[in-house]
Amino acid sequence: QIFRSVFLLIQMLFLLHTMLTVSNYIILHLIPVTIIKDNGLNAKNRKKVMPDLFTEPPVVDPIYEANAYCNIPNITEHGFEGHAPPDHRLLSVHVMIRHGDRYPLYAIPKTKRPAIDCILAPDRKPSHPHLEAFVNHMSKPTKGHMDSSLNGLPRYPSHSVCETGELTQTGVVQHLLNGQHLRDIYIRKHKLLPSDWTTKHLYVESTGKSRTLQSGLALLYSLLPDFEWQKLVIRHQWSTIFCSSSCDCPMRNHYLEEEQRRQYNLRMKNSQLEQTYVDMAKIVGVPTRQLRAANPIDSLLCHFCHNISFPCTESGCIDREHFKVIKAHQLEDEQERREKKLYYKYALLATHPLLNQTVSRMHHVLRGKKEEVFALYSAHDVTVSPVLNALGLLEARFPRFAARLIFELWQGPKNKNYFIRILYNGDDVTFQTSFCRKHNRHSKWPLCPFENFASFVQKEMFAVFNSTDYYDACHRRVF
Ligand SMILES: *[C@@H]1O[C@H](CO)[C@@H](O)[C@H](O)[C@H]1NC(C)=O
Ligand SMILES: *[C@@H]1O[C@H](CO)[C@@H](O)[C@H](O)[C@H]1NC(C)=O
Ligand SMILES: *[C@@H]1O[C@H](CO)[C@@H](O)[C@H](O)[C@H]1NC(C)=O
Ligand SMILES: *[C@@H]1O[C@H](CO)[C@@H](O)[C@H](O)[C@H]1NC(C)=O
Repeated sequence: QIFRSVFLLIQMLFLLHTMLTVSNYIILHLIPVTIIKDNGLNAKNRKKVMPDLFTEPPVVDPIYEANAYCNIPNITEHGFEGHAPPDHRLLSVHVMIRHGDRYPLYAIPKTKRPAIDCILAPDRKPSHPHLEAFVNHMSKPTKGHMDSSLNGLPRYPSHSVCETGELTQTGVVQHLLNGQHLRDIYIRKHKLLPSDWTTKHLYVESTGKSRTLQSGLALLYSLLPDFEWQKLVIRHQWSTIFCSSSCDCPMRNHYLEEEQRRQYNLRMKNSQLEQTYVDMAKIVGVPTRQLRAANPIDSLLCHFCHNISFPCTESGCIDREHFKVIKAHQLEDEQERREKKLYYKYALLATHPLLNQTVSRMHHVLRGKKEEVFALYSAHDVTVSPVLNALGLLEARFPRFAARLIFELWQGPKNKNYFIRILYNGDDVTFQTSFCRKHNRHSKWPLCPFENFASFVQKEMFAVFNSTDYYDACHRRVF
């Protein structure tokens, strides 16, 4: 009798084991098929991702793209930042942002500029619960430790008629939302910074424009509410590609010139675009050349994002069709830019110094130095766009207002394993980068090894130049 029971028990255990093995098999092999966009680590992610896949229109629609570019703030910002298997530890985060919504840099000749109020008013939409406290904190007389060229800039927008290129209230709100989202994930959930964080834990750098400084401050204010000004050090970066002291690179300029030639040739081929400029020039009453030089799309996008009707004169109105033709051409230009690879070569050389800095800083952290664990670069579209391109993120959209590109360094359960995650506007794009695309995320390591990123930056990114280092790639002439 006892023998029989033991036998049955063994049989049951065997059955149970088989069932577990089968379900393991199913789990391991179905996930790669069903999850396309995220890294398949968290079942909750799937629900959030799927709607995106269906709402993306299959063909490029200039109006849809323009709306994505405006990034009109809604209640909260979300994304897949900070997702990793539970036994992994977040060590360091690098955030690169484009400034928020701004007033145009160009004016359409002989028309009224859009009427936008750049005084921050919490009761005007779009607003944010922290907007008033932000203004109060920024108005405190204490100086942060900023490089002298930044100290002269206002810390928040404040003109009743926005000045050229000034950050708008929309732009401030966009970055308050970014900061709040990053606070929830990095500070509250992952405790990236100790509660008694000091100057040495942060690294902050901004270009010398008020819109980048103010965008960075808005993000930091939400990330670390009521931070003590004495703890904050902001460095000034004079170069829009953040090349610091490694800017000498003749070949980078060479590829940029070739890229500009490509852009010019594409424009010349587009007769519908040419006709649109002719029509618009007639409406405003200036030579076509002058209108084109005034880069009207910059101003029209501002009208569009702020729901202000396009400018009119006695001869007529600039309308949505004009806007659509120019915007569609921009999208076509981005498509050809990706295919022709001249911009890619420019981007590799332009972004090496910045990426090299990121790798160096992460190396320090993984060797145990608990310094500069959160880095923020407050920058421009011309900063973020080449980084996306150099990483091989060919699907990525042109940086919208308040775009964010994030690098996360993770430590695996066995101490010597380090991983990189890359997120663009909250989407996990790690496995779309050229250095992680081939990584089998269903192997032993579901995340991408940090070493892939490091060796890409230190060596592999120069392979297209038949070179192995920055100096050589920058100076080797190939025509
Ligand atoms: C937020 O805005 C985006 C477009 O910018 C829109 O697709 C989405 O539905 C909005 N979400 C909410 C909660 O309003
Ligand atoms: C844009 O403005 C028009 C009127 O000028 C208004 O009917 C429409 O609701 C506005 N749209 C938004 C999203 O505010
Ligand atoms: C890359 O980083 C290393 C280590 O910090 C540094 O020695 C080197 O000069 C950097 N190279 C460039 C081109 O910035
Ligand atoms: C790199 O070398 C290959 C073969 O030697 C050659 O075909 C290619 O043109 C070279 N590329 C550059 C950028 O020098």
